[in-house]
Amino acid sequence: MANQHKNSFHIEPAKGLLNDPNGLIQFKGTYYFFHQWNRFETNHEYKEWGLFTSKDLVQWESQGSAILPDTESDKNGIYSGSAIEKDGKMYLFYTGNSKNQGKRASCQKIAYSEDGKTFIKMEKVIKTPAGYTEHHRDPKVWQKNGKWWMIVGAQSAANVGAVTLFESSDLINWHYQGEFYSNELLDQMCECPDVFSLSEEADILLVCPQKRTPIEESDLSLSSYAGYLVGKVDYQQKKFIEKEALRKIDYGFDFYAPQTFEDDKKRRIITAWMSRMGDKEEVYCPTVADGYLHCLTMPRELKWKNDRLYQLPLEEYQALRKDQCNYREDSLLIKNQNDTYEMIIEFQAAITDFSMTLNSERNSISYREGRLEISRINWVSGEREAKVLPVDSLSKLHIFNDNSAMEVFINDGEYVFSMRTFSTSGRDVYYQNLGHNGSVMFYNY
Ligand code: FRU
Repeated sequence: MANQHKNSFHIEPAKGLLNDPNGLIQFKGTYYFFHQWNRFETNHEYKEWGLFTSKDLVQWESQGSAILPDTESDKNGIYSGSAIEKDGKMYLFYTGNSKNQGKRASCQKIAYSEDGKTFIKMEKVIKTPAGYTEHHRDPKVWQKNGKWWMIVGAQSAANVGAVTLFESSDLINWHYQGEFYSNELLDQMCECPDVFSLSEEADILLVCPQKRTPIEESDLSLSSYAGYLVGKVDYQQKKFIEKEALRKIDYGFDFYAPQTFEDDKKRRIITAWMSRMGDKEEVYCPTVADGYLHCLTMPRELKWKNDRLYQLPLEEYQALRKDQCNYREDSLLIKNQNDTYEMIIEFQAAITDFSMTLNSERNSISYREGRLEISRINWVSGEREAKVLPVDSLSKLHIFNDNSAMEVFINDGEYVFSMRTFSTSGRDVYYQNLGHNGSVMFYNY
């Protein structure tokens, strides 16, 4: 039987388990998205870097394996990292993971490539600085003030999440500069840090606190999540000075370990691992029967607006649109048969009681009394589960529905909800109370 869950515009492996996006870069005109990959099985026991490439960020081609765990210092896993171009070469920074008599060791390593096809590992290893445990991983490199900088996700000896900083003048020899950032909200370890600037006033630090106590009532089940801090990188003090408290990047079920890069259009683009599945959800995920697990989110453009991070769908995705239907009815059942589609719902009047169902009621979106709620049916329990967020006013919903992945952008990127969702029962869409002068645009893909 054909695989009903195979996504058409989300990156996913043909076989094995994919997790974090790694080494995102546009190199010699081609977009490179490396990723964590167990190419053998749908579990986390083996990790290498796999690679997808694209000319337009929409059509992706799998290039198979890129970096394998084949040396002593990375024999138990090529863990996450980032990419830089210098003098026509691509440099990849990753964590080498090794275990000896059950004891974990990690180091940061470098590989380079001239053609984007062959990746040559360098001998050099960057060791974990004193005061931190071997949970030291996921290097992200950038250039500023004529120097190269690297941040690494860390755990202090006192088991608090932190980010360490290194500096280099040649991209090869790195020197430890101290702790870049730490906070108890990073819980016991900080994974996949990233730092970039979107405006004069805002530097952003992305962090993934691993295992934490929840800060929002609606998220009691969440233990690790991707968040961002707004502040300033102080290159004198060599620290990230935070100005605002930690906020979540995405409010859906599945979004973790994001990474950003800048392309030649000067866009800051983010993509993430589209999973926060628990162990059982992974084991029973419907794609496992077809030998693969997980996908990445669509790449999105980041903007700084109204003192917060906005995420916008890339304009390139408009190339996927086929037929378009417009609706203005206040309530309507759309007898849709397409598995993949995009919807833009614009509200003109102040909305107080809008609701809709998608994928023949497997998913719902509602907005009532300032609360936006998005739901799916959990494939392990068979129960409906929802994410709820207070939203002051609702002006637009922009929905991308792939075979088993949905991304919902609220108010032109003010909030985004990402989730895996598995449908077998149909694709009908029904909405209620669009309000005066509201409009619905429906595109088949
Ligand atoms: C985040 C993470 C990273 C690590 C990688 C291993 O999901 O745990 O910290 O490098 O995955 O696959």
